[in-house]
Formats: sequence, C-alpha cells, structure tokens
Amino acid sequence: MTKAKILVTGLNGFLGTRFKELYCDKFHITGFEHKGKKSITERKYTFDLIKSSTADIILHLAAKTHIDRCEKDRIFGKKSQSWRINVAGTKNIADACAENQKLLIYISTECVFDGKKSWYQETDEPHPINWYGETKLQGEKEINRSGAKFLILRSTLAFGHPVIHPFDLFHFFLNKIKNNDKIMAVDNQLLSLTFVDDLVNALTVLIQNKAQGIYHYAGGKRISPYKFALLIGKFLNKPVKITPVSLKDFFGPSASLRLTNAALSSAKIKKEFDLSPSNIHQALKKLLIKA
Ligand SMILES: NC(=O)c1ccc[n+]([C@@H]2O[C@H](COP(=O)([O-])OP(=O)(O)OC[C@H]3O[C@@H](n4cnc5c(N)ncnc54)[C@H](OP(=O)(O)O)[C@@H]3O)[C@@H](O)[C@H]2O)c1
Repeated sequence: MTKAKILVTGLNGFLGTRFKELYCDKFHITGFEHKGKKSITERKYTFDLIKSSTADIILHLAAKTHIDRCEKDRIFGKKSQSWRINVAGTKNIADACAENQKLLIYISTECVFDGKKSWYQETDEPHPINWYGETKLQGEKEINRSGAKFLILRSTLAFGHPVIHPFDLFHFFLNKIKNNDKIMAVDNQLLSLTFVDDLVNALTVLIQNKAQGIYHYAGGKRISPYKFALLIGKFLNKPVKITPVSLKDFFGPSASLRLTNAALSSAKIKKEFDLSPSNIHQALKKLLIKA
C-alpha cells in the first residue's frame, strides 16, 4: 500500500514530534520549515510551498498556543501575532489547500467553548472566553469559508509526551513528586486530559479513514489537576505534599481565562470509528513503567 504524503506545519511542536515519532512508518511526513521569514503568515511562501508539495494532506499544527501569551495580544486585535498566526496563517493554508485540492487537517481546542457545561459535542455552539480560543475558532471559520476539504479535530490538554515539556502536566507533577517538592494544584477545574499517544493515534485513524468534518477526541474522564497529581503519586507509591487551591488562587486575575469544565465528548468518533480514549489509569501505567 502506498503511504499517504503529509506536509505538516508545527512538526517540531508537542503533537508534531509525537505524531512523527509514532507514525513515520505509516505516512510519508515532511515538515513546513519555520525559520526567519518561513512562516505560515507569509502568504506567497505558504502558497508556493503547498502548490509545489506532492503531499495530498496538509496537517496544520502550527499555532501560538499559550493562553496567557495569546491574551496579551488581544488589545492588538487583527494586528496581533496570535491573530496573524492562528487566523491569517490558517487562512493562507486553507486558501492554498482549496486552490490545490489538498485535504486540510486542523487541530483545534476545547478553548473554542466557554466551559460552562461539560462534555461538549461537535454540535454545541462555540463561545470562547480567551483570545487563544477566539483565534482558534476564527481559524476554523476561515477553513469553513475557504472551500477546502477539511477535517477539524478538537482536543483537550494533552499529557505524557516522552520528552519533558514545560506544559505537560504529567511531567510537571511527576518531577515534583519524585523530588518530594511541595505542590499547589487546582481542585475546582475539571479537564478531560488527553494522553498524547491516544490523540495522535486518533488522528491517524481519521486520516486512514479519510474522515472529514468536525470531530472531538479527548480523555474519557474529567479530572482536576489536584486529583491528577494525587493519582500519579498513588501509582508511584509515593506521598504527595500537595495543597488544593482554587483557579483564582493559582492563576490570580487570569483565572477568568480558564474553562472550569474543559471536557469534550468523544461520542461521535466512538460511534463512527469505534475509537475510545485510554482509561486514565491505563495511560498512567504505560507512562510510569517508562518513567
Ligand atoms: N497540545 C495540546 O494539548 C493541544 C490540545 C488541543 C489543541 N492543540 C492544537 O494542536 C496544535 C499543535 O499543538 P502543540 O501543543 O503541538 O503546539 P506547540 O508545541 O506550541 O507547537 C506549535 C508549533 O507551531 C510552530 N509555529 C508557530 N508559529 C509559526 C509560524 N508563524 N509559522 C510556522 N510555524 C509556526 C512552532 O514552531 P517553532 O517551534 O519553530 O516556533 C511549533 O513547532 C495547535 O494548533 C494547538 O492549538 C493542542
């Protein structure tokens, strides 16, 4: 069977590196270089690259992803870096995909919702409460408008990358527990934390099935960061010096940017592709065997 050719933006990021590591034998993967002017915000460069690429699929992972850094951009509106990358950059890619008949795959986020209900489905109305979510939602809209064939896969905070990453909640807590450090962790926020290997596997299944449209895929359990840290401690069989705190105590004024219920329902993907996320205990067991 010939391997599908995929051109990936953001290949060196958290999801991109894991996707490449696990699935480089299944797909022919090339990266969109990101150095100096080689940015998805450069429309001509992006168009030329997509036009000349032999890939049938463009996997668009590149984004400005940090919630607080994106929020600082809000006052600059459409001139801000996060808008230029997450919205205008996505438009460049979507328009180039439409013109060159490539399938566009975009990874979006639970932050397109407001977190006031739980287990959001694909049919729920987005309503972002932070600028990151707003720009990711506008990116989705540009894709819809472009006329390109697309797959939008929304997910929730991923954990468990084998390389230690500052935003990986698993490694953050693991290191603190191993070092016997004191931890403060939020206990009034529920997240459907997603094991990164599950997420890139779901992406692979969707690609292989030529899925199009919008899908949600995230962890199957809602858990607070506080309970997540306790669970890691339990698996390590180590005491955890932990204090539960509120979102407000942990994040201060930027607590209002955090979704209290950050959970996505994977019911549609389960129904259509029989794909379920690992139980969080299984995911931790896999990770802690290696740790
Ligand atoms: N990780 C998650 O838990 C999660 C959950 C839901 C949705 N998502 C979405 O999934 C995608 C990937 O997330 P991630 O966690 O892998 O992000 P990440 O680790 O922050 O990586 C982002 C990548 O985008 C690249 N990039 C940034 N600006 C660019 C530009 N102007 N032109 C070209 N490349 C640029 C970065 O390249 P440099 O390193 O060279 O700057 C980096 O490789 C994002 O769209 C994010 O919104 C992620």
